[in-house]
Amino acid sequence: MRVGILGSGLMGAKLGTIFARAGHDVVFSYARSTKKLEKLAQEAGARARAAMPGEAAEEADALLLAVHWSRVGDVLKQAGDLAGKVVLSCSLPMNDDDTGLVVAHTSSGAEELAKKIPKARVVSAFNTVPSEVLFGIYEARRRATRPSLVYCGNEARSKRVASELIRDAGFDPVDAGPLRIARYMEPFALLVAQLAYESDESPELAYRFERF
Ligand SMILES: NC(=O)c1ccc[n+]([C@@H]2O[C@H](COP(=O)([O-])OP(=O)(O)OC[C@H]3O[C@@H](n4cnc5c(N)ncnc54)[C@H](OP(=O)(O)O)[C@@H]3O)[C@@H](O)[C@H]2O)c1
Repeated sequence: MRVGILGSGLMGAKLGTIFARAGHDVVFSYARSTKKLEKLAQEAGARARAAMPGEAAEEADALLLAVHWSRVGDVLKQAGDLAGKVVLSCSLPMNDDDTGLVVAHTSSGAEELAKKIPKARVVSAFNTVPSEVLFGIYEARRRATRPSLVYCGNEARSKRVASELIRDAGFDPVDAGPLRIARYMEPFALLVAQLAYESDESPELAYRFERF
């Protein structure tokens, strides 16, 4: 697939590199410097390149949205028309200092995102996994048991695309149902992240939850 990365920070850089190494054509976009994007693309191998968000979105089979919630409006504006595009989001609707959710209970970031790009096919995923653990999972992905990763969305075709990418990143994709399920998953994802970062055991705790 051709995968456009919208936001090439911790999540976008790692997942984009993993997708390129798994054989997808990856376009890294949206960082504060073009040099960084070019370096990322070079390190990710021949299947990766750097471009502006509009170009990353053009002809993409899937787009990974991996920016802070406060940057979503800006990156979507730069990406242009996303009608019909599969947009996988790992962006949690967090406040500016990342201490709490800004959307919860009656809606979710995933649903608000779907309203912002009504003709796109939004799938919410990845948001329970700290990026630090991603390469380890990817490298171990041929093991018999893989950690599971839940995702949700309203449309079967986009979910197939999402589940393939989740598998390529080393997880067993678990379909949690429609997009509104994100109302329950987002607070849970925040809780897991807080426990992972605040405990001495660091992100490993996230695995233990999965096994538990
Ligand atoms: N990190 C994790 O483990 C993790 C796990 C689960 C979910 N998430 C969620 O995923 C989303 C992304 O997280 P992240 O940790 O990858 O964030 P991040 O490292 O801050 O990456 C955000 C990207 O946006 C770019 N950016 C920010 N402001 C910009 C501007 N004014 N102009 C152009 N580019 C700009 C950054 O550029 P630079 O590269 O130049 O900084 C970076 O590439 C967040 O919503 C977070 O809640 C993260």
